[in-house]
Amino acid sequence: MTNSQGEEHTQKAFGWAARDSSGILSPFNFTRRANGDDDITMKILYCGICHADLQITRDKFGLGLYPVVPGHEITGVVTQELESCCPKMESTFTMFDEGTGKKNYGGYSDILVVNEHFAVRFPENLPLDAGAPLLCAGITVYSPMKYYGLNQPGKHLGLVGLGGLGHVGVKFAKAFGMKVTVISTSPSKKEEAIERFGADSFLVSKDLDQMKAAVNTMDGIIDTASAPHPIGALIDLLKPNGKLVVVGAPEKTVQLPIFSLLMGRKLIGGSAIGGMKETQEMIDFAGKHNIVSDIEVISMEYVNTAMDRLAKGDIRYRFVIDIANTLKSLALTTSNLEVGHPLRESQVSLREDMRVELKEELKEELRVEMKEEMKVEMKEEMKVEMKEEMKEELRVEMKEEMKEELRVEMKEEMKHELESQMAEMRAQFAQWSQLRASSQNSRSFRSRGQQGQLTVRSFHGATDL
Ligand SMILES: NC(=O)c1ccc[n+]([C@@H]2O[C@H](COP(=O)([O-])OP(=O)(O)OC[C@H]3O[C@@H](n4cnc5c(N)ncnc54)[C@H](OP(=O)(O)O)[C@@H]3O)[C@@H](O)[C@H]2O)c1
Ligand SMILES: [Zn+2]
Repeated sequence: MTNSQGEEHTQKAFGWAARDSSGILSPFNFTRRANGDDDITMKILYCGICHADLQITRDKFGLGLYPVVPGHEITGVVTQELESCCPKMESTFTMFDEGTGKKNYGGYSDILVVNEHFAVRFPENLPLDAGAPLLCAGITVYSPMKYYGLNQPGKHLGLVGLGGLGHVGVKFAKAFGMKVTVISTSPSKKEEAIERFGADSFLVSKDLDQMKAAVNTMDGIIDTASAPHPIGALIDLLKPNGKLVVVGAPEKTVQLPIFSLLMGRKLIGGSAIGGMKETQEMIDFAGKHNIVSDIEVISMEYVNTAMDRLAKGDIRYRFVIDIANTLKSLALTTSNLEVGHPLRESQVSLREDMRVELKEELKEELRVEMKEEMKVEMKEEMKVEMKEEMKEELRVEMKEEMKEELRVEMKEEMKHELESQMAEMRAQFAQWSQLRASSQNSRSFRSRGQQGQLTVRSFHGATDL
């Protein structure tokens, strides 16, 4: 693949892109140029979310660059390097190719090819996540401080907007030894501005009394506000010859009250990021003074929610995407292809077929599995049930058997008893007969042939003899 500059775009890359002014980001496959003589390729580890990313993805400046892969606060490690390169490098990168002004894809992606001139070296003590925002937010406030002489110790600097740019602005200004006043629309940020970032005072810009009390007190102001706001009240805060430097980029034009400028020969200037030499200088200065951004690290999947939160000002103070750990290749899914793309359509129908097929297979597997489980369960239940039934049956059966046995046993016992009784009685009778015969012989007690009747009683009852 060759682009309009004749570069070979052979390195496969993967990121998240916005496709229209909804700004919604979704997975996107693309290519980056092959490494040229002065290029390095880096694996991206982190990328900060600058307010400009939100404005560009939602096309607030009317650039219409879709598809747009945002991200220019990029840190990572070099994978294809030049001989002189340090293995830990970063690059500020915008939506435009360095030098050529042509569109390029940003850092919400896995790799970056960049001219070595646009990479800077991080000092060892600067973390790559909290350090990433310095590559835009940091240099955007550092550069005008130096250029406009708003870095002199003891001078009073106002910082408008305590956001991504503003909060590192306070840290740099304090490191320069300046007196710093934050000028904010959010009273809730006062404590953090003073306690955490070291600001000397805090002005609520909507509180006219506070603003009035601070008139004519500042040597300079750096205005980072992202939305249109009254400029006149800020100019009034400047001392004579004071400078108001605008770095925030509101989407609509702001009115300039000329009269405020005339009185006290005040200046208004602007500034955009900074050169590479100055960026390296800023990074080294940040390393020396331990200046990093206050960040909330997020996953790639969270990026659309993060954008919504950024639009509402709901972030303290910079989102940083953990690219290396959370940007997952979706090469096998359909979501990185346009709706209507034939490949997407065929993948969709294939997925549907597979879904149905898998459902059937799973159903069958489950059926067999459940059957087995039920079998075991039922067996157990039946065992218990049958045990009960059999117990009852056996009880009845055994009762009958025992009854019979007992009956026979008792009959036998009684028979024996009766027999022995009868034998005894017979013996007695024989004895008695003998006695009787002998007495008849001697006294002729009864005549022959006369029948006598004798009744013998035993303890079992009467027995007729
Ligand atoms: N010049 C450059 O090279 C350059 C580089 C990067 C970014 N930018 C631009 O700088 C601006 C700020 O970027 P950022 O990343 O710092 O954004 P950010 O994190 O969203 O912070 C912007 C801050 O502006 C203040 N603000 C918001 N709405 C306001 C309003 N209606 N009136 C007054 N103040 C308001 C808020 O601070 P408070 O709550 O304290 O009021 C907010 O925290 C953006 O427009 C961005 O495009 C320019
Ligand atoms: Zn930026």
